[in-house]
Amino acid sequence: MASPAAAHTVEQVLEAKRDGKALSASQIAWFVDAVVDERVSRAQAAAFLAFVMVRGMERDETVALTLAMRDSGQVMRWQVDGPIVDKHSTGGVGDKVSLVLAPLWAELGFRVPMISGRGLGHTGGTLDKLEAIPGFRTDLPIERLQSVLAEVGCFMNGQTAELAPADRLLYALRNETSTVPSIPLITASILSKKLAEGLDELSLDVKFGRGAFMQSRPAAQQLADSLVQVGQGAGVRTRALLSPMHAPLGMTIGNALEVEEAVACLKGQGPAELAELTCALIGRDEAEVQRARTLLDSGAAYERWCRMVRAHGGDPHAPLLGGGCSTHDVLADRQGEVEALDALDLGRAAFELGAGRRQAGEAVHPGVGLRLHVRVGDRVQAGQPLLTVYHADRGLQTALTLIGAAIRLR
Ligand code: URA
Repeated sequence: MASPAAAHTVEQVLEAKRDGKALSASQIAWFVDAVVDERVSRAQAAAFLAFVMVRGMERDETVALTLAMRDSGQVMRWQVDGPIVDKHSTGGVGDKVSLVLAPLWAELGFRVPMISGRGLGHTGGTLDKLEAIPGFRTDLPIERLQSVLAEVGCFMNGQTAELAPADRLLYALRNETSTVPSIPLITASILSKKLAEGLDELSLDVKFGRGAFMQSRPAAQQLADSLVQVGQGAGVRTRALLSPMHAPLGMTIGNALEVEEAVACLKGQGPAELAELTCALIGRDEAEVQRARTLLDSGAAYERWCRMVRAHGGDPHAPLLGGGCSTHDVLADRQGEVEALDALDLGRAAFELGAGRRQAGEAVHPGVGLRLHVRVGDRVQAGQPLLTVYHADRGLQTALTLIGAAIRLR
């Protein structure tokens, strides 16, 4: 039986967007289906992306694109009570918030089915961090995820092939055609995957600064507004906060080092900025932020973390993988005040050591990375250690050059 959407043609859709006209929800749904079914060529899909990039999309069009991409695959349904929530960060350096947030939110009575990604380039990925825990599996099947969510209240797993396949196809084409930095395309890409998690509520951390996807605060605000409006338009209570990513978050960069810091935070002993950002993302108002903070400081969420790690096959008490790295201290060459710890260069330094990957599928080293000993604004003496480099078989000299450029004293 022919569907009404079958009345559209590729030419109509492309010509309308080329000429700056708004597309209907039905045209957009038809086009996304046609991309997934390969009824449009790669060239036609690339032209669509380029026209959207240049002409933009109205809010209703972006909602339609998001929903069509979400519905290109499986939309999860959870057999649990309690509000189903998650957060998404646009990515940064040293950003281990998810590791703290999921068990803490679960401890507060919410259900957190967190689907996470791997690092690519200078920003880290939650799955790579978790895999520094011996035995931790990030590829649990959906039936097991159902029971982990019911029993533990949270999980942290990788994306299945069935989740928003349209995004995988379109994202790869965007990479090839320089159409990544388009607010409607970024919005639909991020939200299609998050909405496929079957959420009631989504909290977004939109980062700005040298180490972030959006370099300026106004650009991050524009993305945050789009994400919130489209998320709400798609029927999920969505909120966003902007957070700076000029310097790394917390004191560590690198997979095992970040797990160690997140665990300290879950025991109530983490750096203040990590605890503050985590609680700010959880709380819908000041009272909820305070409640999250009190619980975090009490260390109660650590037990929940241990249960989640065990449910994923990991051993929460075993030494993390990648131990035995060599260390190298970077010392202050004079006294002064720390003016900058550039997130981008420090992220690149950790990447050069092997903490990140150049191409999807490459292995990362769990143990390498950087441990900072100072924050921006600290006074230091000549000869004082500024950071420790954990290195293995590669990248030390390049990393040291990047670190030299990243740290500025005044
Ligand atoms: N992250 C995504 O998932 N998609 C984008 O387009 C950008 C960042």
